[in-house]
Amino acid sequence: MTERFWCWTNRPAGLALSLILGAGIFMADFGLEDVQADVKSAPGDALEVLKENAGSTDLGQEGVTLQTMPFFLDKEVKKAAGQLLPATRLHIKLREGDWLLATVEGWQQAGQGSVIYGAKGQRILTAIMAKPTIEHATTGEPEVEEITGQTWMPVALDIWLPVKNVTGDIAPVWQYASSLYQNDCASCHTAHSPGHFTANQWIGQLKSMERFSQLDKEQNRLVLKFLQYHAKDGVNASGH
Ligand code: HEC
Repeated sequence: MTERFWCWTNRPAGLALSLILGAGIFMADFGLEDVQADVKSAPGDALEVLKENAGSTDLGQEGVTLQTMPFFLDKEVKKAAGQLLPATRLHIKLREGDWLLATVEGWQQAGQGSVIYGAKGQRILTAIMAKPTIEHATTGEPEVEEITGQTWMPVALDIWLPVKNVTGDIAPVWQYASSLYQNDCASCHTAHSPGHFTANQWIGQLKSMERFSQLDKEQNRLVLKFLQYHAKDGVNASGH
């Protein structure tokens, strides 16, 4: 408790220090030995660079969203059919000028049709569909989860989206998210390694820290997703 009290009283200094340190975090591990203090750029710059280069890089077949953004069912009809969350992976089928036709895949819980989650039973926000969009999604065989008794099914949806804010590689996105996490969440206490909690537990953990955190809404979404994908039961848990 005394340590936390110390953190409180020293918050400005602690934050400044961790901003400098955090920018150099190497994301494989979260121990101090991996802190490289020689990278001095603020983490926000890393996202700006990714955004500036988005669209101009050759995307290949995989894309990753850099921010919350609308998607469309038809590129001529400019009425959003839903929203993609940041760090959502896309399978790109076609590029036409500044537009992409892509498939977004994930899992849906029976009775909660509008949300596409990243993995079965894990509330990792991937996309939110507007009500009329739901019927355009293709769902697979429902599966009942033993522990929770919930029914989940795989889901896929073909969407159009502007190529702006879509990048080709998820690694720099996770790196950016990791530096946000370290800068903010290690300023008062040691930041838990993402593998400390399950993907669903991280939702509540992050929520309970909202009153302390300086992350804005969008940063918070990205950090949550980073933690969930690298969680104890996350798909990237064994590596990054
Ligand atoms: C301003 C200081 C401060 C910041 C910034 C902060 N925390 Fe905390 N954190 C605390 C305090 C104080 C506690 C213990 C009291 C409580 O739980 O409310 C705590 C507790 C926790 C716990 C529970 C620890 C356990 O072992 O049960 C977790 C997890 C956590 N913080 C994660 C985070 C994350 C993630 C962030 C970044 C979004 C963050 N914290 C940012 C002050 C902070």
